[in-house]
Amino acid sequence: MKTLLAVVALFTLVSAQSFAADAARGQTLYKTCIQCHGTNGEGNAAMKAPRIAGQYDWYIVSSIKQFKAGVERKNPTMLPFIKKLSDADIDDLAAYISTLK
Ligand code: HEC
Repeated sequence: MKTLLAVVALFTLVSAQSFAADAARGQTLYKTCIQCHGTNGEGNAAMKAPRIAGQYDWYIVSSIKQFKAGVERKNPTMLPFIKKLSDADIDDLAAYISTLK
């Protein structure tokens, strides 16, 4: 029983780590987004880029994935910038953007 508990605990720990988004990595990836969304995710009216700072991470992830999948948006100018992002990249970006104020 103890061994089983230890295995379960270990597995939980390992899986939590491998799925945890890396906000520091997200900050590096965010450099390509600044030109439109601003240093602090405040948005840019001239670029018609919305404020994304402090948005829920799950919302950012689903927005970017839908965008990437070609769900129609009013302004598709950001598509070339997100096309090559992996799922892990998107998770890391969302972790970082959700911390912006
Ligand atoms: C060329 C300018 C541009 C760049 C670069 C850009 N975006 Fe955008 N982004 C936009 C525009 C414009 C929209 C609004 C699209 C629409 O009309 O629906 C948008 C929308 C979004 C949204 C959806 C917001 C919502 O509430 O649905 C997210 C999230 C987002 N961008 C994240 C990013 C991230 C992360 C990057 C960097 C990898 C990035 N953007 C790079 C212009 C840009």
